[in-house]
Amino acid sequence: MITVEEFAQRRQAVIEQMSANSIAVVAAAREVTRSRDTEYAFRQDSDFYYLTGFNEPEAWLILSNSDEHPQHILFCRDKDAEAEVWQGRRLGPEQAESQLGIEFCLSINELDEQLLVLLNNKQRLLFAQGQDSQADQRIFAMLADLRNAPKQTRNAPPLIEDIRPLLHEMRLFKSAAEAELMQQAAEISGRAHIRAMNYCRPGVFEYQLEAEIQHEFAMSGARHPAYSTIVGGGDNGCILHYTENNDELADGELVLIDAGAEYQGYAADITRTFPVNGRFSEPQKALYELVLKAQSAAFDMIRPGNTLAQASDQVVEIITRGLIDLGILQGELRQNIEDKSYRQYFMHGLGHWLGLDVHDVGDYKIAQQDRPFKPGMVLTIEPGIYIAKDSPVAEQWQGIGIRIEDNLLVTDDGYQNLTASVPKTVAELEALMTCRGAMK
Ligand code: GLY
Ligand code: MN
Ligand code: MN
Repeated sequence: MITVEEFAQRRQAVIEQMSANSIAVVAAAREVTRSRDTEYAFRQDSDFYYLTGFNEPEAWLILSNSDEHPQHILFCRDKDAEAEVWQGRRLGPEQAESQLGIEFCLSINELDEQLLVLLNNKQRLLFAQGQDSQADQRIFAMLADLRNAPKQTRNAPPLIEDIRPLLHEMRLFKSAAEAELMQQAAEISGRAHIRAMNYCRPGVFEYQLEAEIQHEFAMSGARHPAYSTIVGGGDNGCILHYTENNDELADGELVLIDAGAEYQGYAADITRTFPVNGRFSEPQKALYELVLKAQSAAFDMIRPGNTLAQASDQVVEIITRGLIDLGILQGELRQNIEDKSYRQYFMHGLGHWLGLDVHDVGDYKIAQQDRPFKPGMVLTIEPGIYIAKDSPVAEQWQGIGIRIEDNLLVTDDGYQNLTASVPKTVAELEALMTCRGAMK
């Protein structure tokens, strides 16, 4: 759990990084219509959540380093007995002050009037311009009001700065409490993958494995996946973001499952690939062992000082050499690497930051240089090989899509694998699925 104190420390850290006489404005996410008068499940804006822990729409956080008014102000929906009967409880400004530990909370109905006062005569306004057109319009209208006021009575901030680089650099480094939540998200997701492995057999549909996964998530208090679950049997495993999940799983195919829970805001992102019937064929095994070897080499690179690009170079070399050895690529190793021929079969990056967003925020380069790992970063390592049915290779390789994805926390001297509990070697996967067979 993230404490009220930790949220307060984050807000304070933002204020301390703001130049003199600045004001920062962060808006909550909006509800989004799904059809007619129903909405998608509300998902808070990650930056807003990071600074408040508050999960309602129609809210704005204002941070300021001026002595003239409170430094932390939250605008939120008023309590409203009738609306709450229909749409659910609201915290309301009074309770928000005590529950969120934000010193000053006001009704969202006062936002425009108060913003005029808060923005007036500031040197710099920080906000995420271009992220939400309605928030943009509201801010720009305020700035126009200030600029159009009679001379010398009001002044709009002359400088507008994107607040995201500052917030996203903070979000890149996870606190102990965040790492603990991410471990929990990983464990819930791991159990879900194991359930899918247990349920899997020829004749089961992809959506049935998705249902097993979703049930485990929800039963563990993670009602929503961090992204749409991918369950791809055979050739479907070669479609990187396959989410139709409506085919029947066939004997002799592999199934690729990429699924991660969102737990208290934090994402897991795990992929496992295993045989539908519980036994790898020789070609499947050869490719699987190659992806696993590449992943293991990448793990060895994860420690402070190294970069994701260095790990990626290792993986590219191992995969390219392996594909040449198997006769899937032809020619000499260096030439193949130079030509990036592996990209036909490994067409995505090695990994990404992970946190409140599945593809989490934070720069991958600083001053155009690959940034070194530091303790507290969390990332995925997810090499893959995808040989679609129509690929120009021997038939035995066609229709095999493999990805193996784990979530690593960078520590002082290496990494901690948050997703280590999910079976991964050929022997582990076959053993699990053999027991499953005996149970049925
Ligand atoms: N699940 C999306 C990804 O692996 O990046
Ligand atoms: Mn994934
Ligand atoms: Mn991923």
